[in-house]
Amino acid sequence: MQQDKFKQISNDLMIFKKNVFLANEFDHNPIAKSHKQFNQDQIAFFIQQWALVANRYITNLVQIEKTISNDGWEIVVTMIQEIIADELGRHTQGATHYEVLTQGLNETLSVDFSHLTPSKTTETLFKKMDHILSKQTPYIIGTLYAIEAKAIDELLMFKQLMLSLSKNNLSKTMQIFLDGHINEWEITHLENLNNSIYKYLIPEDYDKFRSGFEDILLALNAWWININQETLRSQETTTA
Ligand SMILES: [Fe+2]
Repeated sequence: MQQDKFKQISNDLMIFKKNVFLANEFDHNPIAKSHKQFNQDQIAFFIQQWALVANRYITNLVQIEKTISNDGWEIVVTMIQEIIADELGRHTQGATHYEVLTQGLNETLSVDFSHLTPSKTTETLFKKMDHILSKQTPYIIGTLYAIEAKAIDELLMFKQLMLSLSKNNLSKTMQIFLDGHINEWEITHLENLNNSIYKYLIPEDYDKFRSGFEDILLALNAWWININQETLRSQETTTA
């Protein structure tokens, strides 16, 4: 596929993301809208579920790498291997990003991560992800593209939420996690994909690529809406 043609496709997908995936904007995110009424248990519930989803991205990357490497996609495969190495602690003294994240969240909001179980909403998302990752390579590449396209916006939104929940008092570890991703580790991912996907994606596979992109964003958007409902309901259970 020509790089120009890919650019055009990419522009359409970014418009879809902006219109449909509102969860990445602080002013539209359901949790951001409700968080001021959460009690400590509700904050902990939401944060634990968010951490489970963040951790699931790593498992997904391992799965994506396995599937697409059977079909070539060498540059993208190498890029995923580098992201996995980052996640496993290449720039963080051997601590995985998940360990840095949970330590930072524990220090900032006193949330405990020792016994995490996916809630009904998170379980539904994980089932959708299993289904998505069982599809063919062009579709899965669309998913990967969506995840990287939304990564920095999601972290900026999450940072704003953390600042509000902690009354502007993020721990040092939390700052390292957020600023490391926002300013250093994540910044080249989307650009690298923009410079490589077009080399492998054939026009016949564009529809699959687009569906993968759309389906994962719709699944994540539904997660944000439903996790907010679940968090609000968890108060009713506690106070009943
Ligand atoms: Fe990370």
